[in-house]
Amino acid sequence: MVNGLTIGRYSVPFPVIQGGMGVRVSGARLAGHVALNGGIGIIAAAGLGLNSPQYDGNNYFAADHQALIDELRKAYEIAPDGIIGVNCMVAVSNYDDVVRAACEGGAKLIISGAGLPLNLPELAKDYPEVALVPIVSSVKAAELIARKWQKSYQRLPDAVVVEDPDTAGGHLGEKAEKIGTGEYDQYGTVRGVRNYFREKWNLEVPVIAAGGIWDRQDLQHALAQGADGVQIGSRFVVTEECDADDSFKQAYLNCTQEDIGLIMSPAGLPGRAITGNIDQVRQRDVDLDIYCPSNCLKKCAYKQGRERFCIVHALDRAQRGDMETGLIFCGSNAWKADRIGTVKEVFEELFPLAERDAV
Ligand SMILES: Cc1cc2nc3c(=O)[nH]c(=O)nc-3n(C[C@H](O)[C@H](O)[C@H](O)COP(=O)(O)O)c2cc1C
Repeated sequence: MVNGLTIGRYSVPFPVIQGGMGVRVSGARLAGHVALNGGIGIIAAAGLGLNSPQYDGNNYFAADHQALIDELRKAYEIAPDGIIGVNCMVAVSNYDDVVRAACEGGAKLIISGAGLPLNLPELAKDYPEVALVPIVSSVKAAELIARKWQKSYQRLPDAVVVEDPDTAGGHLGEKAEKIGTGEYDQYGTVRGVRNYFREKWNLEVPVIAAGGIWDRQDLQHALAQGADGVQIGSRFVVTEECDADDSFKQAYLNCTQEDIGLIMSPAGLPGRAITGNIDQVRQRDVDLDIYCPSNCLKKCAYKQGRERFCIVHALDRAQRGDMETGLIFCGSNAWKADRIGTVKEVFEELFPLAERDAV
């Protein structure tokens, strides 16, 4: 027996959200196919403009807006009735515009982290049917968001994603020195968030666990520990439908546990990645004397002080297959990848056909 997942007015047969993965690791193709197979597909908004036909090297923000609308259209071509949303990072300079583009383009959900999405309901107010889902790593962050949303917009989240800094890929919502210390309690936080909404607001908010979910056992553990669903990132990278270049996927297949570690992003947050080439990632921008081509982040150590590297272009290069100077984000379980399969196969492994009668 498989319980589906309902967020706002949208329901899917399987309790799986595919995590937004920028830059263009989860584009229309991956999100569309996840939605087609009964999960929630999420397009990562970050940096989409860099690949758009409208981008001329100077109009990043305008290109980004149109590229997101185009990407949503392509995803719905794959899954016309699917549940497809957009991941919008609070830390990006054009956050407000990206949220509006997501709503205009027909996103059914907006999942938003990398900062606290305190004004998200205001940005989406003309689209009340769009479900709003913050990503947090602590009960305190969930409380802050709920209080602000209720006070200013008389609205509460439609679901909350709790992302585990010890396992998730990409930017992490915890100080680097606290990551991997064993202090963080992923499912304690999941239950804490649920209890907070129950006790304070008398509300059953779906709570989604993100980070470290690779196989059926991890999924069952998450559900047994109190999550209503899971958000999976890395496992979907090694699918045929994932939008990244094949060599990005091969990097997952080739890496060992020791190759995965933390980098410090110019956004001021730690990030989990395959770290072996981080000196080349940095050196490329120094050698070419590249200076902030896109102004993509509100606060950026590279833009402000030329520290570290230009992240959106480093992620873009990796997506295109530059394994030397591209930044390869991944979760702590990426080393488990041993083959490239299809999205359908991932769903069949997570939810064996024999158990689906009740769907
Ligand atoms: C390549 C990659 C890129 C990511 N990009 C984003 C992003 O743009 N925005 C975001 O909120 N999370 C991002 N994440 C986090 C995922 O959405 C997801 O929550 C996380 O990876 C879950 O952990 P898992 O990879 O162990 O399944 C990224 C993760 C990966 C692996």
